[in-house]
Amino acid sequence: MKELGIIGVGKMGESILKGIINKKVLKEKEVIIYDVDQAKCALLEKEGFEIASSIEEVFSEAETILLAIKPQNFQELNIKNANKLIISIAAGISINKLKEILGENLYIRVMPNTGALINKSVTVIAADDNVTMKEMKIALKIFNAVGVTYQVVEDQIDDITPINGSMPAYVYYFMKAFIDSAVLRGIDYNLAKEIVANTLITSASMVLENNKSIEELIKDVCSPKGTTIAGLEVLEKAELLKIIDEASIACSLRAKELGKGK
Ligand SMILES: NC(=O)c1ccc[n+]([C@@H]2O[C@H](COP(=O)([O-])OP(=O)(O)OC[C@H]3O[C@@H](n4cnc5c(N)ncnc54)[C@H](OP(=O)(O)O)[C@@H]3O)[C@@H](O)[C@H]2O)c1
Repeated sequence: MKELGIIGVGKMGESILKGIINKKVLKEKEVIIYDVDQAKCALLEKEGFEIASSIEEVFSEAETILLAIKPQNFQELNIKNANKLIISIAAGISINKLKEILGENLYIRVMPNTGALINKSVTVIAADDNVTMKEMKIALKIFNAVGVTYQVVEDQIDDITPINGSMPAYVYYFMKAFIDSAVLRGIDYNLAKEIVANTLITSASMVLENNKSIEELIKDVCSPKGTTIAGLEVLEKAELLKIIDEASIACSLRAKELGKGK
């Protein structure tokens, strides 16, 4: 019997797999994998992982199953009442929905982000009522190997998705806007990219390491009649805060729709 079965080794599944192996949480031979992409499976087989020939085989061969397929593919999971620990990272798929599809099992629902690729995922984890510390520890071991974890209640996950699962894309978009703007004024692209990325790390570190509130930190950069306030006024006039709230709502709503199979 394998410790972990992974169904779907795309961007997230593979990042989590590599994190677990690199951090020595599990060895290659303790994992069994299934993905419809045969080429990907062949590469992983060469690395020493056992490849299953079906979803059924993963369920019969592993104690814990990590579901890392897209929400749209969940209807392809045609196994009922396997009585396993199921960990799902799918956006929008609630534990109730998982029970509808897979029947009696122990369920943990997780929302990581692509930071898993560099062991810097920011992951939230929620467990079903009958999950004990023993199962929770298994999930925490997996996701602590690829970053930081926070335990939350399940009905908050869709509303947290805009600030962890999806947030990297919003941050890249914001970064791109400033980089492109600098390039338009003649700054070298690579130089602008490095400056923006490093300034972002500095700003995030200030938020985490400084006792000041975000509002105070903003004020510290904005000298009266200075450069920063001139730009901030433009963002305020464009109602950026309202726009970002609307984007967050759209993201959470889409998670809820995915959970309904839309
Ligand atoms: N990407 C993110 O930033 C992110 C963040 C948090 C959570 N998530 C969640 O993580 C899950 C995976 O996302 P991803 O971005 O890693 O997707 P992905 O790169 O498309 O990976 C999914 C993998 O599963 C394979 N697959 C599809 N149907 C399958 C089946 N029935 N059995 C086995 N394998 C199957 C896909 O193969 P094909 O490509 O050939 O279909 C692909 O290799 C999603 O549920 C998503 O909501 C993603």
